[in-house]
Amino acid sequence: MLTAALAVLLFAQAADQPPPEEVFEKRIAPIFKSPNPSSCVQCHLAGVDLKNYIRPSSKETFLSLRDQGLIDLDNPGKSRILALIDMGKADKGAAMIHQKNRAAEIDAFTSWIKACCANGELRSAPKLKVEELAKPPRPVEVIRHARKDQLLESFTNSVWAMRFRCMSCHIEGSAENKKLVGENGERVSWFKAAGPEATLKYLMESKLIDTKEPEKSLLLRKPLNEVKHGGGVKFQLGDEGYKAYRKFVEDYAKIVNDKYEKAADLPPKQTMQAFGTDIWLKIGNTPAPWGDKLVQVKVFAWDATKKTWEAEPIASTDRKVWGQGKLFQHTLTLFAAPGSARAKAWKAKPELPNGKYLVRAYLDDGKLAKDWTAELGAGDFAGEAEVTSAWPAGYGKMTTVDGGKVKKP
Ligand code: HEC
Ligand code: HEC
Repeated sequence: MLTAALAVLLFAQAADQPPPEEVFEKRIAPIFKSPNPSSCVQCHLAGVDLKNYIRPSSKETFLSLRDQGLIDLDNPGKSRILALIDMGKADKGAAMIHQKNRAAEIDAFTSWIKACCANGELRSAPKLKVEELAKPPRPVEVIRHARKDQLLESFTNSVWAMRFRCMSCHIEGSAENKKLVGENGERVSWFKAAGPEATLKYLMESKLIDTKEPEKSLLLRKPLNEVKHGGGVKFQLGDEGYKAYRKFVEDYAKIVNDKYEKAADLPPKQTMQAFGTDIWLKIGNTPAPWGDKLVQVKVFAWDATKKTWEAEPIASTDRKVWGQGKLFQHTLTLFAAPGSARAKAWKAKPELPNGKYLVRAYLDDGKLAKDWTAELGAGDFAGEAEVTSAWPAGYGKMTTVDGGKVKKP
């Protein structure tokens, strides 16, 4: 009696649903066969696509999703695979572009999953073998790294943090920019006034990044003046600006070309958050051996509790010394541990408190030109000096150190 009743119930359910195979062929298979990426690309640049979860047949696809916990058999509309597809809804802006695509995917999957869940035979079919499961080819670490919001974070910490080296000419709407746009066209305004997200979006759609040969990107070669640059030489090979841009461009190229296979291939996590500023440090009367060489300066804050200098630099900058004028001057980049009180405060406004600081100088004897990844360290130390400053921002308000006082202790 009971089994007969159940059979009637199941039959009744199945009767008002088209068979799963039919829904699959009509609605899911076209997604699988389409050369176009799915709505996942709104947020995932690589590593995962809806296609990864689809197998050639309705049955295998259903069992594969079921066995991975992506189907809710009793509540098909609450299945996790639907939630994954629907993720993009919360995200305004970009969401609109993918809206049609996503709605079609949701609709197709919902109908098909409902049809499958109404089929007793499918529900209770034996489990697939692990190697038969259809899932993204990349591990979660790689999927996470290839998300657009993660890319934006690394962009904010690199290219955006170094913007003060370029912005006077390249940010939309500044007086200098307006003049240069008049002479060279809108392309000069590649730093967007709306902020890092808009700037990243522009760069991703521009020809300034070469994802096939990242080191040949105009974004690197123009400021090196390897390709004639209206702004002249703005990068030395291996300086802080070049390193930040180059690492970003290399990483971006690897992401979009799906070159990261396992977690160990990913670049190391940045340990410090970087904040660009218009705070200038000037060293006048620079020692003769510094002439026309790249000098890096690290700034250490005084730790009043421990009565010693902090172990990690709170700021740094670097530039080629103008030998004839015996002059070094550039804008500071500030550093804070992610999540620290400093990092939180600097998100609103990066600034250094009035106080006592130690300025340490490092002289590059040509090693950076040979290897842009090299770092200046103890072996390149050229001297140090104390300075007390409130570190006002602006070209006209530089904090100045006398080069004659920069000595090895
Ligand atoms: C609006 C942005 C957005 C869209 C669209 C989106 N995702 Fe995600 N996805 C995220 C975010 C953010 C995370 C990490 C947070 C989380 O797990 O909720 C994530 C995590 C994931 C993970 C888990 C990896 C991990 O971090 O554990 C998978 C798998 C995944 N998404 C697959 C997909 C698939 C498949 C699609 C398309 C059908 C998709 N996503 C569409 C933003 C999105
Ligand atoms: C003093 C002004 C000035 C500064 C500072 C400057 N540039 Fe430029 N840059 C220009 C001018 C003018 C052009 C347009 C002429 C040309 O293409 O060289 C230009 C063009 C470019 C282009 C090509 C844009 C395009 O779409 O064709 C790139 C890339 C670029 N600069 C990168 C940089 C970077 C990176 C920095 C900072 C490290 C920088 N510039 C600093 C003046 C400047």
